[in-house]
Amino acid sequence: MRHIPVLLNEVLEYLDPKPGDKIIDATFSGGGHAEKILEKIKPNGKLLGIEIDTELFNEAKERFSKIKEIILVNADYRDLEKIVKENNFIGADGVLLDLGLSSWHFEESKRGFSFRKDELLDMRFTQNGELTAREIINQWLPEEIEKILKEYGEEKFARKITESIIDARKKKPIITTFQLVDVIKNAVPFWYQKKRRLNFATKTFQALRIAVNDELENLKFVLKQLPKVLKRGGRAAVISFHSLEDRIVKQDFKELNKSGIAHILTKKPINPSEEEIAENPRSRSAKLRVIEIL
Ligand SMILES: C[S@@+](CC[C@H](N)C(=O)[O-])C[C@H]1O[C@@H](n2cnc3c(N)ncnc32)[C@H](O)[C@@H]1O
Repeated sequence: MRHIPVLLNEVLEYLDPKPGDKIIDATFSGGGHAEKILEKIKPNGKLLGIEIDTELFNEAKERFSKIKEIILVNADYRDLEKIVKENNFIGADGVLLDLGLSSWHFEESKRGFSFRKDELLDMRFTQNGELTAREIINQWLPEEIEKILKEYGEEKFARKITESIIDARKKKPIITTFQLVDVIKNAVPFWYQKKRRLNFATKTFQALRIAVNDELENLKFVLKQLPKVLKRGGRAAVISFHSLEDRIVKQDFKELNKSGIAHILTKKPINPSEEEIAENPRSRSAKLRVIEIL
């Protein structure tokens, strides 16, 4: 299943890529946004694509091998400034960050991102990462597990779910997604298990993924580097998918605005249209914020 780019028209409108521009797509994935940006920056433009996941990177490398305007790097956007320097991209016209994971991760990666598939609990974006979801669930202290469920999952049954995990792992290690789903199910009340907008396992799975990939720290790091890689008048567009990410982006942009480094172009975050949500339900929680460097 191919990942459908979210808020594509809005990203193009705000980044406004023109022929000859240098644009950084720091979350390249399958290149859904990048392909359209590429059409706008030809001729003479360049696109630097960064993707942390080696499988996705290798696929993209092959798919875009004939496109001379694209430079692809298999790296963590946490090192944005270094990557940009190494590729002579300082003074870029635009940066796009489309946070989180792609549909491919849920559907095809086989790394346990989805509670709908019975897979080993891994959840790493990169095999270089040492921490897996399995390790958190089976080895971390109860208070550490409860903390991430509360902070990264905003899970109201964090304590109960943690107790259920600790009970279950005493009997046998929890190594698969379906085992974990059962453990969560045993911990939460019946009304919480019934069909609601969110599945009862959503928040626990989100919390684990964020912790495994250190997603919020990485986001804080990369945002700090935006003014260093963009030219004056250059723009950064960030798409977030949950309130924790959006809060960090909002706060960072506010500070840049206050210190006179950037101007906020989206007073309120841009949400997908009804039509986009109907076509691509995954876009439902997306929020786009954009700044322009002064
Ligand atoms: C939502 S997808 C991007 C989809 C892309 N814009 C498209 O339309 O095809 C996010 C991508 O960012 C990658 N990613 C997550 N954390 C990253 C990091 N720290 N550095 C680089 N890439 C990262 C994920 O592996 C995933 O492929």
